[in-house]
Amino acid sequence: MLATRLSLALADGGVALPEEGRIAVFSARAGEDLSALPQDRTDIITGLYPDFRAFEGQGYTVCVAPEGRYVMSVIAVPRAKALAQGTIALASSVTDGVIIVDGAKTDGAESILKACRKRTDVSFPLSKAHGKLFWFDASSAFEDWLVEAKTTVDGFVTAPGVFSAEGVDPGSRMLADHLPTKLGANVADLGGGWGYLSARALERETVQILHLVEADRAACDCACQNVQDTRLSVHWADATTWTAPGRLDAVISNPPFHTDRAADPDLGRAFIASAARLLAPSGQFWMVANRHLPYEDTLRQHFAQVDEIAGTTKFKVLQATRPSRKRR
Ligand SMILES: C[S@@+](CC[C@H](N)C(=O)[O-])C[C@H]1O[C@@H](n2cnc3c(N)ncnc32)[C@H](O)[C@@H]1O
Repeated sequence: MLATRLSLALADGGVALPEEGRIAVFSARAGEDLSALPQDRTDIITGLYPDFRAFEGQGYTVCVAPEGRYVMSVIAVPRAKALAQGTIALASSVTDGVIIVDGAKTDGAESILKACRKRTDVSFPLSKAHGKLFWFDASSAFEDWLVEAKTTVDGFVTAPGVFSAEGVDPGSRMLADHLPTKLGANVADLGGGWGYLSARALERETVQILHLVEADRAACDCACQNVQDTRLSVHWADATTWTAPGRLDAVISNPPFHTDRAADPDLGRAFIASAARLLAPSGQFWMVANRHLPYEDTLRQHFAQVDEIAGTTKFKVLQATRPSRKRR
């Protein structure tokens, strides 16, 4: 836990907490205990909407990018290596003091520590609770890690750390290939990522507006570049609570199935409930999921009709109609 390691590092004098000036915390996840830092001088920097709102709700100043300069930065290392390196470089470029890097071993903390050691003097790593924490003085040694964040794959722009950054997800491709020609006028893509599914849905001429709802700000930025269609409306939001301007004719989704490392079908189930809530009575829900994920019971709780319309041993494409009114 970041909280445990951070408290130890600050308490034993290894790292001195600056007495004044702003402190930045990059990429911390909601629920992380940051009470070792003075809340009134701490900026949380995150592009993940649910985390952004959770820290804001606790009274923190939260921003999607650094604002000004900081006397100290704490980085909760994200799992994607390119994103972790980019975050270290970004923190280094806006900090005039110590950079603290913390991560779970399963999130690649060891390899980031090795990579940092090759570039600068790193103070002793503190190993505790299946993770590592180390620190160094901000320096320009990481400048080349300031990844020109965007890369192009399959003709689309993606960014480090976004879902399926290396190319089109085969499940999404399968769903897109099975969407009907007439999808309806008002459509939403829940968890739309960098826009592949939305781009394919917009090949249908019936679509008048397509709401892409996505929690990851970097993915939203990519989607805006990838889908240059005036019918697209991108919403940086939590799909489980987002409300549409009116009832929808269709919802499409390749819902998230992980929270951090752990499989989390509850998040996918919340997407299904949201789809039912957002649809008009005649509306249709189209989703793809890994074959082993148990979504059918939840679909049947929220829709009168559920059919598997395509599948392989790996994926299934499900269509659900007649959303149940009692659950709205
Ligand atoms: C399986 S990916 C599918 C992405 C995209 N539709 C595609 O086909 O490439 C699920 C997406 O849901 C996003 N996501 C996770 N939790 C979310 C939430 N609460 N609200 C909105 N989007 C969320 C993830 O960032 C990810 O981009």
